[in-house]
Amino acid sequence: MKEKDINHVRRKFLNYLGWFATLGTLGGVSIAHVRYLFPNILYEPSKSYKIGKPQDYLEGVTFIADKSIFLVRRGETFKVLSAVCTHLGCTPNWIEEKGVYECPCHGSIFNGKGVVVSGPAPSPLPWYDLTRGTDGRLFVDQRRIVSFSKELIV
Ligand code: FES
Repeated sequence: MKEKDINHVRRKFLNYLGWFATLGTLGGVSIAHVRYLFPNILYEPSKSYKIGKPQDYLEGVTFIADKSIFLVRRGETFKVLSAVCTHLGCTPNWIEEKGVYECPCHGSIFNGKGVVVSGPAPSPLPWYDLTRGTDGRLFVDQRRIVSFSKELIV
């Protein structure tokens, strides 16, 4: 092969390599731009929501799993307690016979008011604001922590 042919082949190879690098870069940048239009967003569930009408709930403590709350009904009064353990976030169980919430993960026990009786939990279970909407349904606002004594009377 002559020197001239070798140079020609080298030039063609470098030419293709240049085009390959340029198109690869443009392709990568284009993909990044399109990806930028669709960001990874986690839509958190709303912290305020309706949970049904008072008559939908029986006397006592009802666990509402999809909201991680306990609805406590005593006669015509209603309250809502968080069902997320303040230690590491497990779901305590309501033990009717003992009148306590027991966390199955590390043994924290909360009394009927949500106060820590024993275990590693650092703070009580919070009570959430509960009101009644104009349509008669119960409305929970987890952004508003209320005291145990606040209750909704229907
Ligand atoms: S998560 Fe409840 S005691 Fe640890």
